[in-house]
Amino acid sequence: MTVSKPANSSVSSEHRLQIKRLLEPTSVISSSTGGDVVKGLTQMPKTLPPRYFYDDRGSELFEQICGLPEYYLTRTETAILQKCASEIAQITGASEIVELGSGSSTKTRILLDAYQQQGLPLHYLPIDVSAGILESSALSLLADYPSLQVYALAGTYELALSQIEPSELPSRMICFIGSTLGNLNSQECDLFLSQVITALQVGEYFLLGVDLQKPKHILEAAYSDRQGVTAAFNLNMLEHLNWRFDGNFDTTQFEHWAFYNETEHQIEMHLKSKCKQSVELGSLKLNVHFEPDETIHTEISRKFNLNTIQQELKAKGLVPQKMWTDENQWFGLLLCKLQA
Ligand code: TRP
Repeated sequence: MTVSKPANSSVSSEHRLQIKRLLEPTSVISSSTGGDVVKGLTQMPKTLPPRYFYDDRGSELFEQICGLPEYYLTRTETAILQKCASEIAQITGASEIVELGSGSSTKTRILLDAYQQQGLPLHYLPIDVSAGILESSALSLLADYPSLQVYALAGTYELALSQIEPSELPSRMICFIGSTLGNLNSQECDLFLSQVITALQVGEYFLLGVDLQKPKHILEAAYSDRQGVTAAFNLNMLEHLNWRFDGNFDTTQFEHWAFYNETEHQIEMHLKSKCKQSVELGSLKLNVHFEPDETIHTEISRKFNLNTIQQELKAKGLVPQKMWTDENQWFGLLLCKLQA
């Protein structure tokens, strides 16, 4: 693909790297000005958008979560990728690799290695909301892969998927790993998949990593770890709101609460007020009242059934070509191909 150089992009002197910052259209400005926070905290029950997990501290805590003993997702998906990466490269052939929510791109290296070993060209398009993370991980990838070309896009998935041009290579593979699909509700999920389809041509690929349904105690331990890192990650959202919107949340007066809803097959994460209290967000001119035990809903993490998700993808034209899982069937990786 070609990335033109608008006024808001920075192109490194390194000719193998381009970073383009995508600007949000005015219709979604409400999220950067806190409109989404006001909306979430003034409704019943209260909610906050998961995007506020990720300031610098939040991203650091998230990296720590991925290495926790109870948090089996990252290491299980990594092991599956190690097992099947060369098969993926064989199936797709020369393909541009687009990764949504690339973060530190650690798992991507397994794929890049496989494409490199088969002598396939390496074109990588990481997409992430954090331009800082994109730049640092791209620089370290460029140092390790001498023939890699990186075209990074800083922005939301929605914006990036609507703006990428057709692949210059014979094919494209959009990767959405880490079970991030589970953090979308079913309506958001439908919309997201239609955006993926728009960014693919018939015959191109979608690689999806999903966490699977399993006994409650295993799931609940993964989201309420003993060291309290997930609790710190959840509570950090309030610190983030404090600095961003001049707030006075006292994080010692809230607690992390995560449980598995077996009917909906999803982990639900909340912050629970320990007492009756009022909180002010100065720059939003917002005063919020909490009753004891009142909750703010911050995240869902849906757990999938491999057959059902395959059928749903197929019904949308994303036809599963191959599926891999671990010996416990805790996590699934699906390679789908867009059908006419
Ligand atoms: N998608 C992963 C999951 O659902 C990572 C994640 C997103 C996460 N939000 C989270 C992990 C909140 C812990 C807490 O597990």
